[in-house]
Amino acid sequence: MPPFAAIRTVSFLTQPELLMPKPTSSQAPLRLGIAGLGTVGVGVIKIVQRKANLLAQRTGRPVVITAVSARSKDKDRGVDISNYAWEDDPVALALRDDVDLFVELMGGSDGPAKAATEAALAVGKDVVTANKAMLAHHGQMLAEKAEAKGAVLRFEAAVAGGIPVIKSLTEGLAGNRIERIAGVMNGTCNYILTRMENEGLSYDEVFEAAKALGYLEADPTLDVGGIDAGHKLALLAAIGFGTQVDFDNMVLEGIERITIEDIRHAADMGYRIKLLGVAQMTGRGLEQRMTPCLVPALSPLGQLENATNMVVLEGDEVGQIVLRGAGAGEGPTASAVMSDVLDIARGIRVPTFGAPATTLDKSTPAVAATPAPYYLRMSLLDKPGALAKIAAALGDAGVSIDRMRQYGQDANPEVAPVLIVTDATSRSSLDAALAGMKATSVLATDPVAIRIENV
Ligand code: HSE
Repeated sequence: MPPFAAIRTVSFLTQPELLMPKPTSSQAPLRLGIAGLGTVGVGVIKIVQRKANLLAQRTGRPVVITAVSARSKDKDRGVDISNYAWEDDPVALALRDDVDLFVELMGGSDGPAKAATEAALAVGKDVVTANKAMLAHHGQMLAEKAEAKGAVLRFEAAVAGGIPVIKSLTEGLAGNRIERIAGVMNGTCNYILTRMENEGLSYDEVFEAAKALGYLEADPTLDVGGIDAGHKLALLAAIGFGTQVDFDNMVLEGIERITIEDIRHAADMGYRIKLLGVAQMTGRGLEQRMTPCLVPALSPLGQLENATNMVVLEGDEVGQIVLRGAGAGEGPTASAVMSDVLDIARGIRVPTFGAPATTLDKSTPAVAATPAPYYLRMSLLDKPGALAKIAAALGDAGVSIDRMRQYGQDANPEVAPVLIVTDATSRSSLDAALAGMKATSVLATDPVAIRIENV
């Protein structure tokens, strides 16, 4: 019998009493131990304290906090934690007899978060975490450990903050073959890109503003380098395509090199630049990339402003689903943590990645991306025949031009800015065209090439 067969699955339809649970003190409370009292931990405490009756009414049992752990005991967090036992060591917290469910909100792929999660799972305790980095690197191992002990490991808050995307994929779309997952899953990057566009500011100016607002992770590369969003996409891909999490084969590129010129020119051609994640299973293997892309300005993704997140799920039966909401912050992320906590209180037990971890295959990474149109921006030396040479380089590589625009030479009479949108092409043909262009000696600077995704 596979380890997960031992886990009880409760369905709303076969357990009608769960539809109308009655809060009774005779039902054993679900006792939480929370490790990590930052923004999200405090948000969870507020919900448990302020909505005690609502939570008990919805689950049929009280949900209480018995113990907490964080780096500093005496810091004023704006919530009363004096009734909770304190542990300096999150592993000790996870192992306490009065903790049924370990809630890991510390962050970090390794270190205390991983040690305490493993300790809880090793004794068969359920774990809820918001830790995308830990799961992107160790998710398969942790899911197997949970299953071996009949515990569950849930992570709704790890992906896209308050958007219930894990539940949507694992439960709402369980009857679909997932065809594509796409989305903007880092609010900080979207905030930077939309402020650059709306206010004509440089990347550096908006980066500093985002830093002052506290939007950036302690290591900003996690945000602007696409790593945080890449972690999230890798988790969604594992659920969507029934494979082991494979963050190492994610194609990653950040937004650091996006210029205001590209944002303006892309807008002129009807596009907006987003840090876009795309995962799809192809005949050549699993494609996973988190890179700057152009999306149609009038599409839902194109209209996504500021720090909001959006995830687009495409299933063979349902078609396209668009989920939009706050990707970070106290209330939204705590809301997602509580979704997992309440499922566990109700007795709903779903495998970490939607299918038993021991049945998940390793993915085969696609060696080449699905062909797509590309946006090209270049500065040509303004002399007769220059544009013809560029067109010939594209033609020689088998890349067809869809649209082209040349601007006047206001800033510099020696060069002419040119924009080209190609028809769908492979990256290898595009690279051959770019090499051919460079060999013509009519380029004033290296061309910029950005993939266009019609999502
Ligand atoms: N730093 C992330 C963001 C939130 O800006 O969306 C946490 O993953």
